[in-house]
Amino acid sequence: MTLCEYKPGLEGIPATQSSISFVDGKQGILEYRGINIEALAKQSTFLETSYLLIWGSLPTRQELADFEYEIRYHRRLKYRIRDMMKCFPESGHPMDALQACAAALGLFYSRRALDDPAYIRAAVVRLLAKIPTMVAAFQLMRKGNDPVQPRDDLDYSANFLYMLNEREPDPLAAQIFDICLTLHAEHTINASTFSAMVTASTLTDPYAVIASAVGTLAGPLHGGANEEVIEMLEEIGSVENVESYLDRCLENKSKIMGFGHRVYKVKDPRATILQDLAEQLFDKFGGDYYYDIAVALEKAVADRLGHKGIYPNVDFYSGLVYRKMGIPTDLFTPVFAIARVSGWLAHWKEQLGENRIFRPTQIYTGSHDAPYIDIEKRHSAADAEILAGMIH
Ligand code: CMC
Repeated sequence: MTLCEYKPGLEGIPATQSSISFVDGKQGILEYRGINIEALAKQSTFLETSYLLIWGSLPTRQELADFEYEIRYHRRLKYRIRDMMKCFPESGHPMDALQACAAALGLFYSRRALDDPAYIRAAVVRLLAKIPTMVAAFQLMRKGNDPVQPRDDLDYSANFLYMLNEREPDPLAAQIFDICLTLHAEHTINASTFSAMVTASTLTDPYAVIASAVGTLAGPLHGGANEEVIEMLEEIGSVENVESYLDRCLENKSKIMGFGHRVYKVKDPRATILQDLAEQLFDKFGGDYYYDIAVALEKAVADRLGHKGIYPNVDFYSGLVYRKMGIPTDLFTPVFAIARVSGWLAHWKEQLGENRIFRPTQIYTGSHDAPYIDIEKRHSAADAEILAGMIH
């Protein structure tokens, strides 16, 4: 076997073959199952898109109706999951709560039959149905309130906003939220999807697969960036401060949140759509003070870092959209997770179709034949550093 060059972050190394989605990072194109994201955002609902991602083709009217019906039926949570959530600290991050709840589903649905299409379908339905209920329930419980039961007369997105805000959402807000879910549903082999695939490749249960992906999505270099964008805009504070903020970032070599992407070297097509959705919301419900700062920052970053291909990614404008819907900042990443569950499940199903356990290699950089030191003669790492300093 020829030894490959080590690439930190596996940049450019194919880790799988997949027909689920495609990104052209130079032209800013994203397709799900060959269909352009703009067409799906305009014409398809999130559940229709999820069906496309997971089963490979757009559903017929009947297939979609059946899928929606099953999801409505499974939206409720076992009371024991709600009881478990009551024990979570209110100060805990909702992504940690979601990860724990997703993993807990494995306790209730422990039968594992990965070669049974009915089992796969039930797991898909259960996860798509229950994850939004978990996110909304934790939000209410941490305020000391009882969770709101799902409403069968509301569609997927309207029901989530209803459970979260305890009132029926404005139809435009619900429609835009649904588009946001479609935009976040899938994005080739990103960190959380890779995590899902590695976990899936061990043939564990789908709840463990989704729990591991949720944990990976939470980090600030991945899904967690959408929260940090709002914190950054708050820190900048005004359009006048944009250039000096950028100067400081470049001087300290710190990353500007919501910018840059391993694959896109132009503006992420999802950021363009999200910016437009934010403007639609501002037209109807009034503007957001931070929007002008965001636009000024986008321009300044393009001027200074455009030559490196650093442009807004999906996380840059999404927070401004969610804020307008009354979604708290620390729920932005759980909302991302609600959407990405469909992509993770699509990759889980694809992985099972041609599974081989992920077991890459490494380049060992340690020593060999090191002496075994008796416990009495050992120095702590800190002492060893002090000793080394005294010797120099
Ligand atoms: N601000 C300033 N410089 C940047 C940024 C940024 N946001 N992103 C990349 N760069 C520069 C980086 O300093 C480096 O420059 P040089 O070659 O001179 O050292 C070059 O671009 C390549 O950066 P990298 O960190 O090696 O790129 P990567 O592909 O390993 O990381 C990334 C991609 C998304 C983690 C990174 O762009 C980043 O940290 N962005 C900020 C966090 C963020 O917005 N994350 C959301 C990602 S998109 C949605 C998602 O995955 O959830």
